[in-house]
Amino acid sequence: MKIGIDKLGFYAPHLYLDMTKLADSRNVDPDKFTIGIGQDKMAVPPMTQDAVTLAANAALEIVDETDKEAIDFVIFGTETGVDSSKSAAVYVHELLGLNPYARAIEVKQACYGATAGIQMAKGHIMMNPDSKVLVLGSDIARYGLNTSGEATQGAGAVALLISADPHIMALEDQSVYFTSDIMDFWRPVYSDKAFADGKLSNEQYIAFFSNVWEQYKAKTGMELNDFAAMCYHLPYTKMGYKALKTILDDGTDDVQERLLANYKQSTEYNRDVGNIYTGSLYLSLLSLLEQTDDLKAGDRIGMYSYGSGAVGEFFTGLLQPGYQEHLYVEQHHRLFSSRTEITVPEYETIFEETLPTDGSTVELDIDRDPADICLTGMADDKRQYVNKLK
Ligand code: HMG
Repeated sequence: MKIGIDKLGFYAPHLYLDMTKLADSRNVDPDKFTIGIGQDKMAVPPMTQDAVTLAANAALEIVDETDKEAIDFVIFGTETGVDSSKSAAVYVHELLGLNPYARAIEVKQACYGATAGIQMAKGHIMMNPDSKVLVLGSDIARYGLNTSGEATQGAGAVALLISADPHIMALEDQSVYFTSDIMDFWRPVYSDKAFADGKLSNEQYIAFFSNVWEQYKAKTGMELNDFAAMCYHLPYTKMGYKALKTILDDGTDDVQERLLANYKQSTEYNRDVGNIYTGSLYLSLLSLLEQTDDLKAGDRIGMYSYGSGAVGEFFTGLLQPGYQEHLYVEQHHRLFSSRTEITVPEYETIFEETLPTDGSTVELDIDRDPADICLTGMADDKRQYVNKLK
């Protein structure tokens, strides 16, 4: 039985910051951000968007009435969830109006959460071929104003419908995963900003990639020439390129050229959004599928997932016949073209805004947020959400 990605949705908040303007205000050469790091724009979430609403908005575009009945498992990958107890999946389940006979859970392992969710979903569908699983990857990446991680922030979510006989990509069975306890990036429960050892994190990202890639080749007998494209977790777009460069020489000249061209396509969306942590790899896949026209059914895509702390996995998928017809290209182009640029001071103000932590009531102005699903405020220590379409 083929199991894999049937639909792939995406959402980013409607505000963004131009990286050259951030560079100017931080007295940094803009080329460092746009070339050295490889980011052009950074999505900035207003107070009315959090991990729950970003994910629910991403899911809204893909989930139809039939899916709502068939989905019996919602798996929410996030490292910036809104509650230490209740899962973000339960909120999304309600906001979308899904079948109540469903499981809804949250999974966490830094940027690896959504990949864990996809692999769990695959096992679930193997046992229950008629069911569908909604896997969400949603995060707001925050390092702090004037930090070296600032240029690698971002916000957004992906929503993946995992099913039997998928329309976009069938997941292959063999994958290699690896865990090792390292402190390259972490966020203690008392902090709303992440801590990172930038240099160590870059080294470990590459070391984990080399490890799982070598194991994968030894286990499967596959080689670089068997791949049409490689997608990477993209904390910033230069990072995946550094990993790809370490293996490129193994391919023929034609394969090298193709992988490089497809790598570029796989980074276009991420360049304009920034790091969305657990959704980043799937935003990269979306960017590849929606930008490239030289891929065809049967092409094998390599997927490298990395979540600091750390867990890495290399797995693969085969593109399905007619996959292009199941993408939401126009909606995504519209989403990007309708965003509003904000100034650095506006971004700094939004960055410092917080919700009350003393149980007081606050009502947020959702009229300024074009998203269908918004956070409307807080009351009695409870987040209040609205689906404007309901
Ligand atoms: P930094 O110290 O600001 O930058 O940190 P740098 O000095 O290392 O420079 C960055 C690049 O810009 C270098 O290129 C420079 O040469 C180049 P590289 O040597 O790396 O190829 N550069 C220029 N290029 C053109 N023109 C110029 C110029 N100046 C310099 N004028 C760092 C950068 C990414 C480390 C920092 O932003 C950071 O700490 N970010 C957060 C951590 C991170 O993203 N780590 C990535 C791997 S870990 C991961 O992916 C997991 C993660 O997503 C979290 C999770 O799993 O949940 C982060």
